[in-house]
Amino acid sequence: MAKVRTPYRCAECGSAAPRWLGRCPECGEWNSLVEDRAPASLALGDAPVPIAEVDPVGATRRPTGVAELDRVLGGGLVPGSVTLLGGEPGMGKSTLLLQALGRLAEGGARCLLVSAEESKEQVRMRAGRLGALAPELFLVAETSLPAVLAQTEELSPHVLAVDSIQSVVDPDLPGTAGSVAQVRDCAQRLVRLAKEQGVITLLVSHVTKEGALAGPRVLEHVVDTVLSFEGDRHHALRLLHALKHRFGSTQELGLFEMGGRGLTDVSDPSALFLADRRAGAAGSVVAPVLEGARPLLVEVQALVAPTPAPLPRRSAQGLDASRLALLLAVLERRGGVPLAGADVYASVAGGVRVGEAGADLAVVLAVASARLGEPVDPGTVAVGEVGLGGEVRQVASGGRRLAEAARLGFTRAIVPASTPEAGSELAGLEPVRVRDVGEALAAAELDRGPPLQS
Ligand code: TYD
Ligand code: MG
Repeated sequence: MAKVRTPYRCAECGSAAPRWLGRCPECGEWNSLVEDRAPASLALGDAPVPIAEVDPVGATRRPTGVAELDRVLGGGLVPGSVTLLGGEPGMGKSTLLLQALGRLAEGGARCLLVSAEESKEQVRMRAGRLGALAPELFLVAETSLPAVLAQTEELSPHVLAVDSIQSVVDPDLPGTAGSVAQVRDCAQRLVRLAKEQGVITLLVSHVTKEGALAGPRVLEHVVDTVLSFEGDRHHALRLLHALKHRFGSTQELGLFEMGGRGLTDVSDPSALFLADRRAGAAGSVVAPVLEGARPLLVEVQALVAPTPAPLPRRSAQGLDASRLALLLAVLERRGGVPLAGADVYASVAGGVRVGEAGADLAVVLAVASARLGEPVDPGTVAVGEVGLGGEVRQVASGGRRLAEAARLGFTRAIVPASTPEAGSELAGLEPVRVRDVGEALAAAELDRGPPLQS
């Protein structure tokens, strides 16, 4: 028998009522009748299934064809997903977008690029230079949201890209383009479209100098994935991170180089990061760190300069500042290297940010090396977490880090004492096991006592 849907129901006892009443005729509760709405349609008819039988989204991902972008996305873009690409002006967001769309279109995906900032002619010129003139890539210069929605319905693309979300405006709403209300509403309308039609949607968003996404933070909540494109404008290297990713890890790092023909994937980042190293200089130690699944060799640099200032400077670049402060205290107290009366600068060369403890030991040794004016053997790498007691601790994926060091020709690795025995992949790399900072300083030949006080 078909269920008759009654318009009102008591929130207390659940009995139905044909019209709204001040008091439930069944249980006598006052003001308990509420409209009886149908449950959300999504839930209807969706029977529970064993978890292993659910199709993982991975099966439906569409690779962009830009290898480093696909690495960060976990293989590609998921239909119906909305991805925000944020970065400072001039970083290369439009370039990356155009290259990805060109590849996607070549692969048979119908793509619609909505250029809200640049003219069609400008985009056409750039696309020519980037080799992105695929027949399936459609272009429109448009800033009105209703027009964008209508054109998307009309063309029904697999991929929709809007560059940028801050330049699109809904004339029915108050506020100018880029205002909080406009950005939020336009993004929400595009998210709804993406979900309803299964369109892969990419939104470019400008980021202010402070690193916040210009416009409301709510933008980050309405989209599935937030990618951040970073780098030094005067340096060709560009880094792509996922700040949020509903379809994969946020640990992966994508690396590009900006050149005359747009962005190229950096396939050997370790070699790139070490290319400018002045081997044999004091204050430089190489650390094998982990960026997502990828081991990466970076150069940790330190400079220690005497200062008469009562509060010496401690400056960290590419490293966590409070972590640096902690490591300096450990180096002083447990390693016996005096740092009072000296400014300390520590940085990771090449613009990478190291967010894990695996670089601790390299930081400690680089600062000690800078303080003593003694270089560390350039064929040596150091890896390990440093504890408050001065102990050197094991870090994750030690084997893969050391394999990367061996691949690049390093011959010695200062490692935590608990490091497991190495396999044949570490041929040519001799591990030197240390239990604490004191032993590490000795292994790096930095235990000759402090030099003349400044
Ligand atoms: P762009 O993609 O316009 O940056 P965004 O959209 O993030 O503001 O690119 C910015 C810079 O990249 C610009 O200064 C020129 C440079 N560029 C190249 O060096 N090579 C190229 O092939 C392209 C397209 C741009
Ligand atoms: Mg742009």
